[in-house]
Amino acid sequence: MRKKIVAGNWKCNTTLAEGIALAKQVSNLVAEKGAKDVVVVLGTPFTHLASVATAVDLSRVSVSAQNCAAEAKGAFTGEVSVSMIQSTGATYVILGHSERREYYHETSETLNKKVALTLAQGLTPIYCCGEALAIREAGTENAFVKKQLEETVFNLSAEDFGKIVIAYEPIWAIGTGRTASSQQAQDMLSFIRQLIAKKYNQNIAAECSILYGGSCSPANAQELFSQPDIDGGLIGGASLKADDFLAIINAY
Ligand code: PGA
Repeated sequence: MRKKIVAGNWKCNTTLAEGIALAKQVSNLVAEKGAKDVVVVLGTPFTHLASVATAVDLSRVSVSAQNCAAEAKGAFTGEVSVSMIQSTGATYVILGHSERREYYHETSETLNKKVALTLAQGLTPIYCCGEALAIREAGTENAFVKKQLEETVFNLSAEDFGKIVIAYEPIWAIGTGRTASSQQAQDMLSFIRQLIAKKYNQNIAAECSILYGGSCSPANAQELFSQPDIDGGLIGGASLKADDFLAIINAY
């Protein structure tokens, strides 16, 4: 079912103690003030997953990893598998974030493996896509995002595609304070939904949760979330402050 989702992406921030405190604050605020019908997700570092899953009320807040290994298990020193992630109580995995594509050379081929493993383990991938500034300035952002989807999640069966969440994050808006306008975000999300309808069918397109990410804040969340195709946000910087994160959740 198409859900409204506000997912925090803590990236490489917070010590374990800070992360637990932040997660508890969010969980308590959601309990006190409610989150309407919004699914709240905390994307924490691997080291924090189990502790955060224990610290929060999992009936109100879900926990997500920010990446996973491209192999199920074995001799891959330093990697964290999806079954390990699942064993912590986490239920989501953010995949294909532009920082991972850029700094860790994640390719569509690797992402296909990660998406498949995540789904096989019954976890929900939050699949990220989005273009760099030069592509936006050249006016070729639609073709670029289409290719990203075609090389990865459009390889999924209709049944599996129905289980994923898409996050559109224009790279030029990430951590820059330069948010896409609500019209730019709406246009791209509507385009993505049309692509899904063409590739699969109208029903799968209508049911898919598509999020916007990139300098989303309490100041602009309401305007963004009021757009018909925006089903929530993937929030970086503002997810590190419980009050700001709650304000974004309650922007619906
Ligand atoms: P930002 O990050 O909200 O700090 O721009 C978003 C993201 O990278 O997911």
